[in-house]
Amino acid sequence: MRQSSIASLAVLLAACTSSSSTTPPLDAVAIAPPPAPTVASAPKHAAPDAINPRLLRRFQPLDQAAAPENPALVDLGRMLFFDKRLSRDRDVSCNSCHRLDRYGVDHEATSTGARGKRGRRNAPTVYNAAGHVRAFWDGRAADLAEQAKGPILNPLEMAMPDGASVVRVLVAIPGYVTAFERAFPGAARPITYDHVGRAIAAFEKGLVTPSRWDRYLAGDASALTKREVAGLRLFSDTGCMACHTGRYLGGSSFQKAGVTRPWPNQRDQGRFEVTAAPADRMVFKVPGLRNVAMTAPYFHDGSAKTLEEAVGTMARVQLGEELSTEDIGLIVAWLGTLTGELPAEYIREPALP
Ligand code: HEC
Ligand code: HEC
Repeated sequence: MRQSSIASLAVLLAACTSSSSTTPPLDAVAIAPPPAPTVASAPKHAAPDAINPRLLRRFQPLDQAAAPENPALVDLGRMLFFDKRLSRDRDVSCNSCHRLDRYGVDHEATSTGARGKRGRRNAPTVYNAAGHVRAFWDGRAADLAEQAKGPILNPLEMAMPDGASVVRVLVAIPGYVTAFERAFPGAARPITYDHVGRAIAAFEKGLVTPSRWDRYLAGDASALTKREVAGLRLFSDTGCMACHTGRYLGGSSFQKAGVTRPWPNQRDQGRFEVTAAPADRMVFKVPGLRNVAMTAPYFHDGSAKTLEEAVGTMARVQLGEELSTEDIGLIVAWLGTLTGELPAEYIREPALP
């Protein structure tokens, strides 16, 4: 469809192979213009302007969270997520920066933590983060249980001196003693710093937000408007899917920020700071795009204020394309279909012990 798509494909493949070794191989086939759909293989999306089902198979729907295996663990994780006593001055909780009623973000370019200190990175959403390949922009935590132990001790976030002091705070609160015993039945020491991470992660696992997009993927062609479908087609034709694909439309690989043009702000070198491998300079986790319309500002450095700006920058620096305002509008319209409903009951602030 686009003349430059072959050129950008070559650039992309080069970018993909030079990035982190943890990057799963990307299958280039689906970036090429898909063949016309046949009626036989496209019974559900057989409208004249339907999307090729082979393209749709590059995405997977998000299911509503299953009932938790250990509800007591989830309830404990929810309390810890909201509890400011896990910070040095008892004034910051996970929810301060990942506001669950605001799609899991703080809407700031970079976050403010303990004593008003500012970090250097934009706070990603905690919604749907459990399915990502690793946690953090640079992937330094393997999973959410490991991730959760980071911010509590980070001097720019919750600033507790060490895990032992967190445990001391919790054992002094009788309600937590009971809650940890319930969540970790039979454990010799129910309250440990590791268990804090595991409880928070169990709660975060339930933070999923299926949307209209999932109804569309399940075969309900009426779930998206024509304009939104046109946006999806453009997203694919432009090459965005090389990195933003799968269930979360990202979150599955690490890629260089600034493929066809250098990223304007080189202060944060991303995954290079974790691996020290030269190929990881300016490599970041590809963010998932679910709820992206609700989580401005964008990028690891918070440098894009609007989604339109973010989409235009992506096309320019990742793919060497200048998208028209109209085309950006189409992609943004489709991205809006990824906005799910917040699980109001699940995220209600609990009474703290
Ligand atoms: C002061 C603000 C602040 C606080 C408090 C905070 N976070 Fe974060 N969070 C951030 C920032 C900024 C990042 C990105 C940091 C990075 O990637 O280096 C982040 C990253 C994350 C991620 C990774 C998401 C992804 O897509 O990789 C998760 C999950 C998360 N935080 C959960 C938590 C939990 C759980 C707590 C409480 C224990 C917490 N955060 C407390 C600001 C905060
Ligand atoms: C080569 C891989 C690659 C391609 C192609 C790509 N992206 Fe990205 N995308 C990334 C990476 C990496 C980031 C994180 C950049 C950063 O913050 O440093 C990102 C970030 C984003 C963000 C910001 C999300 C957030 O929460 O901050 C949006 C929106 C986005 N991309 C949309 C697109 C669109 C639309 C296209 C096609 C025009 C596209 N991307 C093409 C890798 C890619």
